[in-house]
Amino acid sequence: MIVTVGDVAAGGHCVARVDGEVYFVRHALPGERVRIEVTDRKKRFAFADAVEILEASPDRVEPPCPWAGPGKCGGCDFQHATHEAQLRLKTRVLADQLTRIGGLDAAKLDGVAVEALPWKEGPLGWRTRMQYAVDPGGRAGLREHKSRDIVHIDWCRIASEPIRSAPVLSEDWKGMGAVGVVDSDDDELAVYTQLRRTSRPHRKRGPATVHQRVGEVEFELGFDGFWQVHPAAAGAFLECVLEFLEPREGEAAWDLYAGAGLFAAGLAETVGESGRVVAVENAKSSHTAANLADWKHAGAIDGDVAATVPALGGVDIVVLDPPRSGAGPEVVASLVEARPRAICYVACDAGALARDVKAFADHGWEPKRMRAFDAFPMTQHFETIALFEPSE
Ligand SMILES: C[S@@+](CC[C@H](N)C(=O)[O-])C[C@H]1O[C@@H](n2cnc3c(N)ncnc32)[C@H](O)[C@@H]1O
Repeated sequence: MIVTVGDVAAGGHCVARVDGEVYFVRHALPGERVRIEVTDRKKRFAFADAVEILEASPDRVEPPCPWAGPGKCGGCDFQHATHEAQLRLKTRVLADQLTRIGGLDAAKLDGVAVEALPWKEGPLGWRTRMQYAVDPGGRAGLREHKSRDIVHIDWCRIASEPIRSAPVLSEDWKGMGAVGVVDSDDDELAVYTQLRRTSRPHRKRGPATVHQRVGEVEFELGFDGFWQVHPAAAGAFLECVLEFLEPREGEAAWDLYAGAGLFAAGLAETVGESGRVVAVENAKSSHTAANLADWKHAGAIDGDVAATVPALGGVDIVVLDPPRSGAGPEVVASLVEARPRAICYVACDAGALARDVKAFADHGWEPKRMRAFDAFPMTQHFETIALFEPSE
Protein backbone atom coordinates (compact mmCIF):
# COMPACT_ATOMS: atom_id res chain seq x y z
CA MET A 1 0.00 0.00 0.00
CA ILE A 2 1.23 3.53 -0.75
CA VAL A 3 0.68 6.16 1.96
CA THR A 4 1.61 9.74 2.77
CA VAL A 5 3.22 9.80 6.20
CA GLY A 6 2.05 12.24 8.86
CA ASP A 7 3.53 13.33 12.16
CA VAL A 8 6.01 11.37 14.30
CA ALA A 9 4.61 9.34 17.24
CA ALA A 10 6.24 7.69 20.25
CA GLY A 11 8.15 4.46 19.65
CA GLY A 12 10.05 5.52 16.52
CA HIS A 13 6.94 5.55 14.33
CA CYS A 14 5.21 8.07 12.10
CA VAL A 15 1.45 7.99 11.72
CA ALA A 16 -0.30 7.37 8.39
CA ARG A 17 -4.07 7.38 7.98
CA VAL A 18 -5.79 5.59 5.09
CA ASP A 19 -9.60 5.25 4.84
CA GLY A 20 -10.02 5.71 8.59
CA GLU A 21 -7.31 3.12 9.36
CA VAL A 22 -4.26 4.15 11.40
CA TYR A 23 -0.79 2.80 10.56
CA PHE A 24 2.26 3.29 12.80
CA VAL A 25 5.07 3.28 10.25
CA ARG A 26 8.76 2.64 11.04
CA HIS A 27 11.65 3.76 8.79
CA ALA A 28 9.62 6.71 7.48
CA LEU A 29 9.72 10.49 8.04
CA PRO A 30 6.89 13.03 8.22
CA GLY A 31 5.71 14.17 4.78
CA GLU A 32 7.16 11.22 2.88
CA ARG A 33 5.24 9.17 0.35
CA VAL A 34 6.18 5.55 0.95
CA ARG A 35 5.16 1.98 0.16
CA ILE A 36 4.39 0.16 3.42
CA GLU A 37 4.25 -3.46 4.45
CA VAL A 38 2.11 -4.28 7.48
CA THR A 39 4.16 -6.08 10.17
CA ASP A 40 1.48 -6.47 12.87
CA ARG A 41 -2.27 -5.85 12.69
CA LYS A 42 -4.18 -4.95 15.87
CA LYS A 43 -7.93 -4.38 16.28
CA ARG A 44 -7.87 -0.60 15.83
CA PHE A 45 -4.52 0.07 14.13
CA ALA A 46 -1.57 -1.64 12.48
CA PHE A 47 2.22 -1.45 12.59
CA ALA A 48 4.05 -1.22 9.29
CA ASP A 49 7.50 -0.73 7.76
CA ALA A 50 8.23 1.75 4.97
CA VAL A 51 9.88 -0.59 2.47
CA GLU A 52 10.16 1.82 -0.48
CA ILE A 53 10.54 5.59 -0.38
CA LEU A 54 8.68 7.22 -3.29
CA GLU A 55 9.01 10.85 -2.20
CA ALA A 56 11.79 11.40 0.34
CA SER A 57 11.89 14.03 3.08
CA PRO A 58 14.77 16.54 2.87
CA ASP A 59 15.71 15.17 6.33
CA ARG A 60 16.40 11.69 4.93
CA VAL A 61 19.97 10.36 4.70
CA GLU A 62 21.55 7.04 3.80
CA PRO A 63 21.79 5.23 7.20
CA PRO A 64 25.43 5.21 8.37
CA CYS A 65 24.80 1.63 9.54
CA PRO A 66 24.28 -1.03 6.83
CA TRP A 67 22.35 -3.15 9.36
CA ALA A 68 19.62 -0.53 9.91
CA GLY A 69 16.36 -0.75 7.95
CA PRO A 70 13.20 -2.84 7.54
CA GLY A 71 13.77 -6.46 8.59
CA LYS A 72 17.29 -5.72 9.82
CA CYS A 73 18.70 -4.85 13.29
CA GLY A 74 16.02 -3.38 15.58
CA GLY A 75 18.40 -1.39 17.81
CA CYS A 76 18.14 1.99 16.08
CA ASP A 77 14.98 3.76 14.92
CA PHE A 78 16.20 6.93 13.21
CA GLN A 79 19.39 6.04 11.30
CA HIS A 80 17.62 7.30 8.15
CA ALA A 81 17.30 10.90 9.47
CA THR A 82 19.95 13.62 9.91
CA HIS A 83 20.88 14.06 13.57
CA GLU A 84 19.36 17.53 13.53
CA ALA A 85 16.07 16.02 12.29
CA GLN A 86 16.25 13.32 14.98
CA LEU A 87 16.36 16.07 17.61
CA ARG A 88 13.30 17.71 16.05
CA LEU A 89 11.40 14.40 15.93
CA LYS A 90 12.14 13.73 19.62
CA THR A 91 11.12 17.29 20.55
CA ARG A 92 7.76 16.67 18.81
CA VAL A 93 7.27 13.38 20.67
CA LEU A 94 8.03 15.07 24.01
CA ALA A 95 5.50 17.84 23.33
CA ASP A 96 2.89 15.34 22.16
CA GLN A 97 3.26 13.10 25.24
CA LEU A 98 3.25 15.96 27.75
CA THR A 99 0.24 17.73 26.25
CA ARG A 100 -1.87 14.72 25.22
CA ILE A 101 -1.14 12.37 28.16
CA GLY A 102 0.23 14.86 30.73
CA GLY A 103 -2.43 17.51 30.09
CA LEU A 104 0.17 20.31 29.98
CA ASP A 105 -0.56 23.52 28.15
CA ALA A 106 1.52 23.59 24.91
CA ALA A 107 2.68 27.13 25.79
CA LYS A 108 4.51 25.67 28.82
CA LEU A 109 6.76 23.76 26.42
CA ASP A 110 7.79 26.78 24.36
CA GLY A 111 11.56 26.74 23.92
CA VAL A 112 11.98 23.14 25.14
CA ALA A 113 13.99 21.28 22.49
CA VAL A 114 15.94 18.03 22.73
CA GLU A 115 19.63 18.99 22.91
CA ALA A 116 22.54 17.00 21.46
CA LEU A 117 25.21 15.89 23.92
CA PRO A 118 28.81 16.68 22.96
CA TRP A 119 30.60 13.57 21.68
CA LYS A 120 33.68 13.06 19.48
CA GLU A 121 31.81 10.73 17.09
CA GLY A 122 28.60 12.82 16.99
CA PRO A 123 25.55 10.51 17.01
CA LEU A 124 27.70 7.34 16.60
CA GLY A 125 30.10 5.39 18.84
CA TRP A 126 28.54 6.44 22.15
CA ARG A 127 27.07 3.25 23.65
CA THR A 128 29.25 2.09 26.57
CA ARG A 129 26.98 -0.81 27.55
CA MET A 130 26.01 -3.38 24.91
CA GLN A 131 23.99 -6.52 25.23
CA TYR A 132 23.98 -9.03 22.38
CA ALA A 133 21.57 -11.92 21.93
CA VAL A 134 23.00 -15.38 21.28
CA ASP A 135 21.55 -17.81 18.70
CA PRO A 136 21.30 -21.60 19.27
CA GLY A 137 24.61 -22.06 17.42
CA GLY A 138 26.38 -19.81 19.96
CA ARG A 139 26.82 -16.72 17.73
CA ALA A 140 26.11 -13.30 19.21
CA GLY A 141 24.20 -10.60 17.32
CA LEU A 142 21.40 -8.07 17.71
CA ARG A 143 17.68 -8.71 17.59
CA GLU A 144 15.33 -7.56 14.86
CA HIS A 145 12.66 -5.10 15.95
CA LYS A 146 10.11 -6.84 18.26
CA SER A 147 11.40 -10.24 17.16
CA ARG A 148 13.38 -13.17 18.51
CA ASP A 149 15.33 -13.35 15.24
CA ILE A 150 18.98 -12.35 15.50
CA VAL A 151 20.86 -10.26 12.92
CA HIS A 152 24.55 -11.09 12.68
CA ILE A 153 26.20 -7.69 12.34
CA ASP A 154 29.92 -7.08 11.73
CA TRP A 155 30.03 -4.33 14.38
CA CYS A 156 27.57 -1.91 15.94
CA ARG A 157 27.92 1.69 14.68
CA ILE A 158 26.59 3.21 17.93
CA ALA A 159 28.84 1.10 20.21
CA SER A 160 31.85 2.80 21.82
CA GLU A 161 35.25 2.25 20.23
CA PRO A 162 36.50 -0.20 22.94
CA ILE A 163 33.31 -2.27 22.60
CA ARG A 164 33.60 -2.31 18.79
CA SER A 165 37.15 -3.65 19.09
CA ALA A 166 36.22 -6.45 21.53
CA PRO A 167 36.14 -9.90 19.87
CA VAL A 168 32.75 -10.80 21.41
CA LEU A 169 30.92 -11.17 18.07
CA SER A 170 33.36 -13.77 16.76
CA GLU A 171 33.44 -15.90 19.93
CA ASP A 172 31.44 -19.03 20.63
CA TRP A 173 28.77 -18.43 23.31
CA LYS A 174 26.93 -21.75 22.90
CA GLY A 175 24.43 -22.43 25.69
CA MET A 176 24.09 -18.73 26.58
CA GLY A 177 21.07 -16.49 25.93
CA ALA A 178 22.90 -13.17 25.97
CA VAL A 179 26.37 -11.68 26.28
CA GLY A 180 27.07 -8.18 27.56
CA VAL A 181 30.05 -5.82 27.41
CA VAL A 182 30.68 -2.93 29.82
CA ASP A 183 33.01 -0.09 28.82
CA SER A 184 33.73 1.88 32.02
CA ASP A 185 36.55 4.34 32.84
CA ASP A 186 38.75 1.31 33.63
CA ASP A 187 41.21 0.11 30.98
CA GLU A 188 39.65 -3.32 30.73
CA LEU A 189 36.16 -4.22 29.46
CA ALA A 190 33.90 -6.36 31.66
CA VAL A 191 32.20 -9.19 29.73
CA TYR A 192 29.28 -11.16 31.17
CA THR A 193 26.82 -13.79 30.02
CA GLN A 194 23.21 -14.56 30.85
CA LEU A 195 21.34 -17.83 30.37
CA ARG A 196 18.33 -15.78 29.35
CA ARG A 197 17.97 -12.02 28.89
CA THR A 198 16.30 -11.70 32.30
CA SER A 199 18.50 -14.13 34.27
CA ARG A 200 21.36 -13.17 36.59
CA PRO A 201 24.47 -11.92 34.76
CA HIS A 202 27.56 -14.06 35.24
CA ARG A 203 30.94 -12.37 34.79
CA LYS A 204 33.17 -14.05 32.19
CA ARG A 205 36.19 -11.76 32.24
CA GLY A 206 37.30 -8.25 33.18
CA PRO A 207 36.69 -6.37 36.44
CA ALA A 208 33.87 -7.30 38.84
CA THR A 209 33.81 -3.69 40.09
CA VAL A 210 34.04 -0.91 37.49
CA HIS A 211 34.72 2.82 37.91
CA GLN A 212 33.13 5.93 36.37
CA ARG A 213 34.35 9.49 36.83
CA VAL A 214 32.33 12.71 36.72
CA GLY A 215 34.50 15.77 37.27
CA GLU A 216 36.61 15.08 40.36
CA VAL A 217 34.37 12.35 41.75
CA GLU A 218 34.93 8.66 41.09
CA PHE A 219 32.09 6.16 41.46
CA GLU A 220 32.49 2.41 41.76
CA LEU A 221 29.78 -0.05 40.87
CA GLY A 222 29.33 -3.72 40.07
CA PHE A 223 29.84 -4.65 36.39
CA ASP A 224 26.03 -5.10 36.29
CA GLY A 225 25.19 -1.86 38.16
CA PHE A 226 23.33 1.02 36.46
CA TRP A 227 25.29 3.81 34.79
CA GLN A 228 24.23 6.14 31.96
CA VAL A 229 25.32 4.60 28.65
CA HIS A 230 26.24 7.84 26.82
CA PRO A 231 29.69 9.07 27.97
CA ALA A 232 28.52 12.71 28.23
CA ALA A 233 25.16 11.98 29.90
CA ALA A 234 26.00 11.66 33.61
CA GLY A 235 27.91 14.98 33.68
CA ALA A 236 25.26 16.86 31.69
CA PHE A 237 22.39 15.51 33.81
CA LEU A 238 24.15 16.36 37.09
CA GLU A 239 24.82 19.90 35.88
CA CYS A 240 21.18 20.36 34.83
CA VAL A 241 19.80 18.92 38.11
CA LEU A 242 21.97 21.28 40.20
CA GLU A 243 21.10 24.24 37.92
CA PHE A 244 17.36 23.52 38.38
CA LEU A 245 17.36 22.78 42.14
CA GLU A 246 19.86 25.48 43.18
CA PRO A 247 20.66 23.58 46.44
CA ARG A 248 21.31 25.87 49.42
CA GLU A 249 23.73 25.38 52.35
CA GLY A 250 22.11 23.38 55.11
CA GLU A 251 19.27 21.90 53.07
CA ALA A 252 18.01 18.33 53.42
CA ALA A 253 18.02 16.47 50.10
CA TRP A 254 16.96 13.04 48.80
CA ASP A 255 18.31 11.22 45.77
CA LEU A 256 15.67 8.59 44.94
CA TYR A 257 16.49 5.70 42.57
CA ALA A 258 20.05 6.82 43.23
CA GLY A 259 22.10 4.19 41.37
CA ALA A 260 25.76 4.70 42.26
CA GLY A 261 24.84 8.04 43.87
CA LEU A 262 25.68 10.44 41.03
CA PHE A 263 23.17 13.10 42.15
CA ALA A 264 23.58 12.39 45.88
CA ALA A 265 27.31 13.19 45.62
CA GLY A 266 26.56 16.48 43.80
CA LEU A 267 23.93 17.37 46.40
CA ALA A 268 26.31 16.49 49.27
CA GLU A 269 28.89 18.93 47.86
CA THR A 270 26.37 21.75 47.43
CA VAL A 271 24.31 21.52 50.65
CA GLY A 272 27.54 21.31 52.66
CA GLU A 273 28.19 19.76 56.07
CA SER A 274 25.28 21.59 57.68
CA GLY A 275 22.95 19.84 55.21
CA ARG A 276 21.91 16.22 54.89
CA VAL A 277 21.58 13.85 51.92
CA VAL A 278 19.79 10.52 51.80
CA ALA A 279 20.09 8.27 48.74
CA VAL A 280 17.62 5.42 48.18
CA GLU A 281 18.50 2.54 45.86
CA ASN A 282 17.54 -1.13 45.83
CA ALA A 283 20.31 -2.73 43.74
CA LYS A 284 23.37 -3.84 45.71
CA SER A 285 25.45 -3.66 42.50
CA SER A 286 25.17 0.17 42.74
CA HIS A 287 27.55 0.39 45.77
CA THR A 288 25.70 3.60 46.73
CA ALA A 289 26.80 3.76 50.38
CA ALA A 290 30.48 3.17 49.49
CA ASN A 291 30.36 5.99 46.93
CA LEU A 292 29.01 8.44 49.51
CA ALA A 293 31.48 7.49 52.26
CA ASP A 294 33.55 10.69 51.72
CA TRP A 295 30.64 12.88 52.88
CA LYS A 296 29.75 12.42 56.56
CA HIS A 297 26.41 14.17 56.03
CA ALA A 298 25.34 11.78 53.23
CA GLY A 299 24.16 8.20 53.47
CA ALA A 300 22.33 5.52 51.52
CA ILE A 301 19.33 3.33 52.24
CA ASP A 302 19.29 -0.05 50.53
CA GLY A 303 15.56 -0.35 49.86
CA ASP A 304 12.50 0.23 47.73
CA VAL A 305 11.61 3.90 47.16
CA ALA A 306 7.84 3.47 47.66
CA ALA A 307 8.38 1.61 50.96
CA THR A 308 11.13 3.92 52.26
CA VAL A 309 9.99 7.47 51.47
CA PRO A 310 6.96 7.66 53.81
CA ALA A 311 9.23 7.00 56.83
CA LEU A 312 11.91 9.53 55.88
CA GLY A 313 10.25 12.63 57.33
CA GLY A 314 10.59 16.09 55.79
CA VAL A 315 12.92 17.30 53.06
CA ASP A 316 13.82 20.49 51.14
CA ILE A 317 14.83 19.18 47.69
CA VAL A 318 14.46 15.85 45.88
CA VAL A 319 15.97 14.20 42.82
CA LEU A 320 13.77 11.50 41.34
CA ASP A 321 15.30 9.27 38.64
CA PRO A 322 13.01 6.23 38.30
CA PRO A 323 13.32 3.37 35.82
CA ARG A 324 11.41 3.41 32.49
CA SER A 325 8.04 2.72 34.16
CA GLY A 326 8.15 6.05 36.04
CA ALA A 327 7.55 6.88 39.72
CA GLY A 328 3.79 6.33 39.79
CA PRO A 329 1.01 8.07 41.76
CA GLU A 330 1.85 6.41 45.08
CA VAL A 331 5.46 7.66 45.15
CA VAL A 332 4.40 11.09 43.84
CA ALA A 333 1.82 11.37 46.67
CA SER A 334 4.33 10.49 49.40
CA LEU A 335 6.86 12.95 47.97
CA VAL A 336 4.39 15.82 47.97
CA GLU A 337 3.48 14.89 51.54
CA ALA A 338 7.14 15.38 52.59
CA ARG A 339 6.69 19.06 51.55
CA PRO A 340 9.93 19.72 49.65
CA ARG A 341 10.32 23.14 47.99
CA ALA A 342 11.25 21.46 44.66
CA ILE A 343 11.56 18.06 43.00
CA CYS A 344 13.81 17.45 40.01
CA TYR A 345 12.56 14.53 37.90
CA VAL A 346 15.00 12.78 35.53
CA ALA A 347 12.99 10.75 33.02
CA CYS A 348 14.12 8.27 30.38
CA ASP A 349 10.59 7.75 29.09
CA ALA A 350 8.46 10.72 28.07
CA GLY A 351 5.20 8.72 28.35
CA ALA A 352 5.94 7.73 31.96
CA LEU A 353 6.93 11.33 32.74
CA ALA A 354 3.65 12.51 31.20
CA ARG A 355 1.65 10.14 33.43
CA ASP A 356 3.57 11.40 36.47
CA VAL A 357 2.95 15.04 35.38
CA LYS A 358 -0.74 14.21 35.78
CA ALA A 359 -0.10 12.65 39.20
CA PHE A 360 1.77 15.81 40.31
CA ALA A 361 -1.03 18.01 38.92
CA ASP A 362 -3.52 16.15 41.16
CA HIS A 363 -1.54 17.55 44.12
CA GLY A 364 -1.24 21.07 42.66
CA TRP A 365 2.35 20.67 41.44
CA GLU A 366 3.61 21.40 37.92
CA PRO A 367 6.84 21.43 35.90
CA LYS A 368 8.36 24.92 36.02
CA ARG A 369 11.52 24.24 33.99
CA MET A 370 12.41 21.51 31.57
CA ARG A 371 15.37 20.42 29.42
CA ALA A 372 15.73 17.31 27.27
CA PHE A 373 18.90 15.57 26.08
CA ASP A 374 19.64 13.22 23.22
CA ALA A 375 21.39 10.64 25.37
CA PHE A 376 20.54 7.85 22.86
CA PRO A 377 21.27 9.16 19.32
CA MET A 378 19.94 7.14 16.34
CA THR A 379 17.28 5.59 18.60
CA GLN A 380 13.84 6.98 19.48
CA HIS A 381 14.89 7.40 23.14
CA PHE A 382 15.85 10.62 24.95
CA GLU A 383 16.07 11.92 28.52
CA THR A 384 13.97 14.72 29.99
CA ILE A 385 14.73 16.64 33.19
CA ALA A 386 11.85 18.55 34.74
CA LEU A 387 11.76 20.81 37.80
CA PHE A 388 8.46 20.41 39.68
CA GLU A 389 7.21 22.99 42.15
CA PRO A 390 3.82 23.81 43.64
CA SER A 391 1.75 25.79 41.10
CA GLU A 392 1.04 29.38 42.18
C1 LIG B 1 17.44 5.25 35.80
S1 LIG B 1 18.45 4.51 37.05
C2 LIG B 1 19.09 5.98 37.81
C3 LIG B 1 20.38 5.82 38.56
C4 LIG B 1 21.11 7.08 38.96
N1 LIG B 1 20.25 8.15 39.39
C5 LIG B 1 22.05 7.55 37.86
O1 LIG B 1 21.78 8.60 37.26
O2 LIG B 1 23.06 6.89 37.58
C6 LIG B 1 17.24 3.92 38.16
C7 LIG B 1 17.80 3.24 39.39
O3 LIG B 1 16.69 2.91 40.24
C8 LIG B 1 16.91 1.64 40.84
N2 LIG B 1 15.57 1.16 41.21
C9 LIG B 1 14.62 0.64 40.39
N3 LIG B 1 13.49 0.42 41.06
C10 LIG B 1 13.71 0.82 42.34
C11 LIG B 1 12.90 0.84 43.51
N4 LIG B 1 11.63 0.44 43.47
N5 LIG B 1 13.43 1.32 44.64
C12 LIG B 1 14.73 1.74 44.68
N6 LIG B 1 15.53 1.75 43.60
C13 LIG B 1 15.04 1.29 42.44
C14 LIG B 1 17.67 0.86 39.80
O4 LIG B 1 18.43 -0.18 40.39
C15 LIG B 1 18.55 1.95 39.16
O5 LIG B 1 19.80 2.01 39.78
